[in-house]
Amino acid sequence: MSYVIAVAGKGGVGKSTLSALLVRALSERAGEIVLAVDADPNANLGDKLGVKVERTIGQLREDLLKRADEISGGGSKQDAVMYQLRLAMMEGEKFDLVTMGRQEGRGCYCYINNLLRTFLDEVMDSYRYVVIDNEAGMEHLSRRTCQRMDMLVVVSDPTAVGLTTARRILELAKEMEVQFAHSMLVISRTGDGLPDTLFKAVEEAGFESWTMLPYDERVEELAVAGRPLTELPRKSKAAAAVLEIAEQMR
Ligand SMILES: Nc1ncnc2c1ncn2[C@@H]1O[C@H](COP(=O)(O)OP(=O)(O)OP(=O)(O)O)[C@@H](O)[C@H]1O
Ligand SMILES: [Mg+2]
Repeated sequence: MSYVIAVAGKGGVGKSTLSALLVRALSERAGEIVLAVDADPNANLGDKLGVKVERTIGQLREDLLKRADEISGGGSKQDAVMYQLRLAMMEGEKFDLVTMGRQEGRGCYCYINNLLRTFLDEVMDSYRYVVIDNEAGMEHLSRRTCQRMDMLVVVSDPTAVGLTTARRILELAKEMEVQFAHSMLVISRTGDGLPDTLFKAVEEAGFESWTMLPYDERVEELAVAGRPLTELPRKSKAAAAVLEIAEQMR
């Protein structure tokens, strides 16, 4: 069975940055290809991983809907759909990437969504590690890509308000009966340490574990230059911190 990691949090806290660095850290540690899933409709995990996304699941869904009659009967046609889906996966050196994209039209997608779900479950099972980069907010965690996860990671900025949001996201995940075995709070873009005033909020957030992902100038430089995080030196502050985070994922 694969180890599924879902990365969530409010907008702009560093979810995709953590996801991209986790993909590299996990694949290097395990010596295996990791599956990266970009579940944010405003997809950019591909950019951060340095691959050009040619096809999203959203686009594929549109194509399939147009050909719904053709694919609604018979096993071999379903196999053809699965084949198409595999083509929508981008291959990097140390990872494969699935980009969910947007659901574009308003047609009846139930049948196709079911097919896609079956495919994704099947695909996920064949990787040791799956890292899902989610859109800001939580609602979609109960859907499609995140039915079962081993580690729910919520990223927060180092502020009291941010930590309250992280706590709410965890509470919501529990209310929605999202299944996760473990939960981890990652406080991103920290300075040398955490201000004393925040420790109480961290405690109250109720995560099984928490850790810091320091602010790293080199991450910022790459973002400004539009370069992928695969170029981030492994000894940089953020990469080193993510290596330690990955250590907790086994
Ligand atoms: N540890 C870090 N050090 C320096 N800059 C960082 C760090 N983490 C993230 N950033 C920068 O913060 C910005 C937002 O990061 P990122 O895109 O990872 O956030 P996000 O939570 O995925 O955002 P969104 O909600 O829009 O998907 C980016 O410019 C990124 O380069
Ligand atoms: Mg993002």
